[in-house]
Amino acid sequence: MCEIIDGRALADKIKDKIVQEIVKLLVLPNDGNRHPNLAIILVGERPDSKLYVARKEKEATKCGIDTHVYKFAEDASEQELLDCIGFLNRDDLIDGILLQLPLPPQFNTDKIVAAISPDKEVDGFHPDNLKKIYAGEPYQMPVLAAVILEILTSINCNLQNKTVALLAHSDIFMNGIGEILKQCGAVILPCHYDENSKNNLQICTKQADIVITAVGKKHYLTADYLKPDAVVIDIGIIREGDETFGDVDFASASKVASFITPVPGGVGPMTIACALRNVLELYKKNKKF
Ligand code: GUN
Repeated sequence: MCEIIDGRALADKIKDKIVQEIVKLLVLPNDGNRHPNLAIILVGERPDSKLYVARKEKEATKCGIDTHVYKFAEDASEQELLDCIGFLNRDDLIDGILLQLPLPPQFNTDKIVAAISPDKEVDGFHPDNLKKIYAGEPYQMPVLAAVILEILTSINCNLQNKTVALLAHSDIFMNGIGEILKQCGAVILPCHYDENSKNNLQICTKQADIVITAVGKKHYLTADYLKPDAVVIDIGIIREGDETFGDVDFASASKVASFITPVPGGVGPMTIACALRNVLELYKKNKKF
């Protein structure tokens, strides 16, 4: 029997803890008597990005985190964005900066992310953070890595010697995640999504105890990609009109998997909760007043 991992319930637990901690910080007599503050930068008019930002604002407010959304036109210049980031980096009220991705094509995403102060960058994408991950130094947990580890912990899945297929188009979201899972004892299998060689992909994924997919191809992952009792974490988000789909063909994969995250209601809500937790961590670590 396959168990469905309830991402909304897990996210609620994380957000409850954030609320409790913020309430405690706010009642301390000489410290922490302001709410954490999150700046969100949104460029352009993508409906999905607007929706995700609106959700982040709503959930942040519910947790006691104040938000400030900076909106830029689709044709904004790189300099305008860099100026805004410079302003937010210098503003001692701002604890966390979240740059909603993807950016329109004229932007060099790596350059813009690197301009965010590493002490304020929420997602854990900053190159200084990645260097720390690979150097084995203390680092800020990237949001997506936190989501994966929370999900695995919730089902008592220890990563020691577990084989993991990590499937993604090379992408800023997945940077460092393989390394973090390796440091937790996992063996990362050399699986790559390739539209034209599904057989090779299946040979690889069928060896995996855990399949993590962030490819963005609607329902491509069916039961015949899975080893019996595999754990399946679906990070794919495909929006069609008002509907959201994942990479995993749930009806088929759930016949073989032991645990599976649904889309919607799996990774999505947890991404918001783990991002908000990072804001609180940055606030506690770097707050100047
Ligand atoms: N775009 C879609 N999801 C995310 C996310 O979790 N963080 C950022 N920065 N951009 C996104």
